[in-house]
Amino acid sequence: MIPDALINAVRDARHIVIFTGAGVSAESGIPTFRDPLTGLWERFDAASLATPEAFRADPALVWGWYEWRRMKVLQAEPNPAHRAIVELARHVPHLTLVTQNVDDLHERAGSTDVLHLHGSLHQPRCFTCGKPPEEPLGTPDEPEGGRRLQPPQCERCGGHLRPGVVWFGESLPAYQLDAAFAAAKDCDVLISIGTSGFVYPAAEVPNLAWQAGAVVAHVNPLANISRGEREYALAGAAGETLPMLIERAFGRTGS
Ligand code: OAD
Repeated sequence: MIPDALINAVRDARHIVIFTGAGVSAESGIPTFRDPLTGLWERFDAASLATPEAFRADPALVWGWYEWRRMKVLQAEPNPAHRAIVELARHVPHLTLVTQNVDDLHERAGSTDVLHLHGSLHQPRCFTCGKPPEEPLGTPDEPEGGRRLQPPQCERCGGHLRPGVVWFGESLPAYQLDAAFAAAKDCDVLISIGTSGFVYPAAEVPNLAWQAGAVVAHVNPLANISRGEREYALAGAAGETLPMLIERAFGRTGS
């Protein structure tokens, strides 16, 4: 059930912010981080993998784990939720897409100017000198998760390549974070999709929008709301709920 007030707000919006997390890619077969059934951190301790200290201590363990995730992403295709966001952008005067995801499924669906708050699996850089490799990474060929894999060496300084993602304890990219916060403060509607909202400062984005007076909706099978006023929980899978929302707001679409 999508409330009429939300449909009307989406239809009338001047600027919509879409804020996505791992759940938007779940229907593409990419495991989320904290789902009880598929959560990646169930199998691995986040603190032991997603930190610079972990990489320093055991580069092959960390690189192997991220290469497994990159392989899952390369094998995946965008799903109806990614495509619905592209469709929505055609209907509203201004849409800002902010993602915590390190995959490229939004771009492969056709979204442009995506603000990646947590970096990208596809843009490694040297752990020592910070420079990107001259050649892009090849396709990883290891089907099983958790295999240790020695990271390639930097051609310039001989250091190890590291994944281009933001690890715990590291700063988010300043341009992306500032742009996301500014968009949140400016928008009329923010739709948060598939995120547990546990990881800050990214999780501040929907809060800022709500505090600035925007309508905020959460699309998540486990959606719940804390504030009530101007806040909606759409409890369902993103790939079903978003096309429904767009159809209700703008009529039948091609996606
Ligand atoms: P989580 O794994 O914490 O949360 C995923 C959310 O998606 C959960 O609340 C699920 O209920 C929901 N979900 C699952 N399937 C869904 C579906 N089909 N449709 C809609 N929602 C669905 O992932 P994030 O919130 O993205 O950080 O995690 C935030 C950050 O924590 C990640 O960016 C990552 C991790 O540490 C970094 O890598 C820095």
